[in-house]
Amino acid sequence: MINIPIAEARIRQIGTQPFTANTAIHWHGIRQIGTPWFDGTEGFTQCPILPGDTFVYKFVVDRPGTYLYHAHYGNAKRRRAIWIHSRSAPRWRIPILLLIIMIEASSLLIGITRARLNKLLDCPQFLFSGLWEPQSLLIQGKGRFDCSAANPPMKADVCNNTNPECSLYSTTVVPGKTYRLRISSLTALSALSFQIEGHNMTVVEADGHYVEPFVVKNLFIYSGETYSVLVYTDQDPARNYWVTTNVVSRNATTPPGLAVLNYYPNHPRRSPPTIPPSGPMWNDVDSRFNQSVAIRARKGHVYSPPATSDRVIVLLNTQNRVNGKTRWSVNNVSYDIPHTPYLIALKENLLHTFSQTPPPEGYDFANYDIKVVQNNTNATTSDAIYRLQLNSTVDIVLQNANTMNPNNSETHPWHLHGHDFWVLGYGKGKFDPINDPKKYNLVDPIMKNTVPVHPFGWTAFRFKADNPGVWAFHCHIESHFFMGMGVAFEEGIERVGKLPSSIMGCGETKHLLKP
Ligand code: C2O
Ligand code: CU
Repeated sequence: MINIPIAEARIRQIGTQPFTANTAIHWHGIRQIGTPWFDGTEGFTQCPILPGDTFVYKFVVDRPGTYLYHAHYGNAKRRRAIWIHSRSAPRWRIPILLLIIMIEASSLLIGITRARLNKLLDCPQFLFSGLWEPQSLLIQGKGRFDCSAANPPMKADVCNNTNPECSLYSTTVVPGKTYRLRISSLTALSALSFQIEGHNMTVVEADGHYVEPFVVKNLFIYSGETYSVLVYTDQDPARNYWVTTNVVSRNATTPPGLAVLNYYPNHPRRSPPTIPPSGPMWNDVDSRFNQSVAIRARKGHVYSPPATSDRVIVLLNTQNRVNGKTRWSVNNVSYDIPHTPYLIALKENLLHTFSQTPPPEGYDFANYDIKVVQNNTNATTSDAIYRLQLNSTVDIVLQNANTMNPNNSETHPWHLHGHDFWVLGYGKGKFDPINDPKKYNLVDPIMKNTVPVHPFGWTAFRFKADNPGVWAFHCHIESHFFMGMGVAFEEGIERVGKLPSSIMGCGETKHLLKP
């Protein structure tokens, strides 16, 4: 078995010391059943871990799968942490593992202060200069970067293809075998296509659930998703092959990320004799849409969803100006993270620390044209949360729309904390609340924790609000969440056990830390 996480490198110099080392670590895909306080989501479930502090997360990993961990501080997430936790576990014999992980904030992760980020948001160039676009894509932490393109330029000895530390990731396989690759993406912005020259891939797992196998030439993967694919090493054994990843969904200039599939006994560093094959067209939305639809639960491993839901929340995704700043909004509410974490605020009755006006359940369906630029002049910011009935069944419909640019709509990978959900369907255009639910897949829907909503399309899923706590649900594109593309769900707060004092100390929770 080999592991191939994909990440994205961005090299950025922003004035003097904009970074501090506050952090929190989120265990992405782990539901934290019974330990909602260790979800590692600053502002939701804990206060930040300060420089020099040690914070201990303890939680049960209740089923096998491929999961990620990353920083989750403010709205600025996963700056540095790129990791895949994978283990081969016997099929559906659910092992219980207790993980005890020590985090030292100062050495492991670098976050950016919220105040500083807000300053940057005021600076128009920061948003419009393409500063978000990555300069390089990394596979297994390795990639290539044109030193002269760095600003300021980097020394060639730091960034040099002949430096062995800068060689591409190479993984060795034996001809004539089958390999399972666990693939995950923790990009800050980009949607990716992943491919292995000359090899098909059979998709068998997504977000920790078995998939009815299907074959792809390129795997589309969005930030926060994980997949397992099977690869048969049935090609000419006399050479090595390129593994490539490239940006899709945006017309980016980022060069493809490269790695090498090394057929034993060729030298692992020997370059394949070919030019790395290019990926699919960045704007081929149909292929990406079709891959999403193709992902079904594996026969014999179907968990059936409840046949009906108790509540339907439609979330319109828009980009617009709010108070003079470019923001992303959900039903015209651009989300802000509170300073007192919700979990503590709700348990300790500090309800004045966030807005108590419930966020909207939908948008002006009859009059809203999702295909054109809309001003959404009534958009506001809020840190209000959706309060769900414990054990109720909730349907979420993500509705995409035009951005502030004409004829443009982006792909948003939405990630739900604390739960897996059944993916009921994807559609193009505006979701029809009468007829589209009739087409929902209730037979073999895959369970996931991250799904894309495709340009000008919609995505519907169902989940059971059966995990007491407060959970983030947001676009996994770092800048989008930062600019308001998220919501929060609460359920069963009265069932949450005693909170550990280690999560406290910020906002209005200081007084709870009695000496
Ligand atoms: Cu992997 Cu809230 O994110
Ligand atoms: Cu987004």
